[in-house]
Amino acid sequence: MLGPVILAASRSDRMRRLVSAAPVTKPVVDRFIPGETVDRIVPVIEDLTGKGLEVTMDVVGEDITSPEQAAAARDAYLELIDRLEMLSLGERAEMSVKLSMFGQALPSPATALDGGPSGPAPAFQSGHDLALANVRPVVEAAARIGTTVTLDAEDHTTLDSMFAIHEELRKDFPQTGCVIQAYLFRTEADARRLAAAGSRVRLVKGAYKEPASVAYQNAAEIDKAYVRILRTLMEGDGYPMVGSHDPRLISIAQELARRAGRKPDEYEFQMLYGIREEEHLRLAAEGHRMRVYTAYGTDWYGYFMRRLAEKPANLRFFLRSMVSK
Ligand code: FDA
Repeated sequence: MLGPVILAASRSDRMRRLVSAAPVTKPVVDRFIPGETVDRIVPVIEDLTGKGLEVTMDVVGEDITSPEQAAAARDAYLELIDRLEMLSLGERAEMSVKLSMFGQALPSPATALDGGPSGPAPAFQSGHDLALANVRPVVEAAARIGTTVTLDAEDHTTLDSMFAIHEELRKDFPQTGCVIQAYLFRTEADARRLAAAGSRVRLVKGAYKEPASVAYQNAAEIDKAYVRILRTLMEGDGYPMVGSHDPRLISIAQELARRAGRKPDEYEFQMLYGIREEEHLRLAAEGHRMRVYTAYGTDWYGYFMRRLAEKPANLRFFLRSMVSK
């Protein structure tokens, strides 16, 4: 019951101001987002990779409101990639990006001016084009240091644009990955299309508040869809990335991989930093590729609220720490 309320709050500016300003928020945030700057996150990356884990790095932020912010997001990733080059981790450290942080949702300049062209020629035709223009240099820089980028999946209204950008990027950088969400009705068809040679696809349950017209609302139905889609990915020719902390789904994934004749380096597990960390180490020790999605940066509000929504105990812990101060 609480999840949808928290997810609605994750899009509220008033709640953003309240939660961000609360002095007790920071220690709770640190559990999921272990740093605000590149200097802070580099030792975290070294620690994780030193333990035999791999990482996918997310500079937190989404729903930006100006082209300048979108360019700043691009530059934050470029700065990170420069630092990663010095660590020589290759594909053990990849990038995850949210296209809304690269300008995807910005109205085209013409639309913003009530449809009337005005002023100097626009630098971009649409948010979609701007996001593609900003993400391309990040994908190029990642390729230069021997790694890749995965496009995160945001709410369902953004996905046609995300898949189109994914397809465009794959023309030059076929290793570019994308995320699909088991809770959406459309995803089984997307998975069949994407389970092709050379593609890299992360399957997750889905973290946004979606209407019943487009998504399963019930946990058991989402889990069943997850298994069906995972079977398609495992039996296909692409590289499946199993994004879940759910112990049942993790053992089903192992069984599906075995039945599909996949070797341990032909798929991987992915989990979020700060969640079920013993399981990260256990899977890596068993010889699995285990990648930790590690978020950092200052604009952590949306990411943090989705983590609270996934597990009510997180919210109780957060609220208790507020009253005990
Ligand atoms: P489930 O929610 O059933 O959790 C299983 C168990 O894991 C819980 O019982 C609990 O023990 C633990 N757990 C899960 N979440 C927790 C939390 N927040 N705090 C503490 N414990 C927790 N979504 C999306 O829409 N777009 C995306 O691009 C991504 N990207 C992504 C990358 C990676 C690597 C992961 C692991 C997840 C995502 N997600 C995502 C989030 C995803 O959609 C989903 O919301 C979470 O993974 C929670 O679902 P689980 O599959 O873990 O199962």
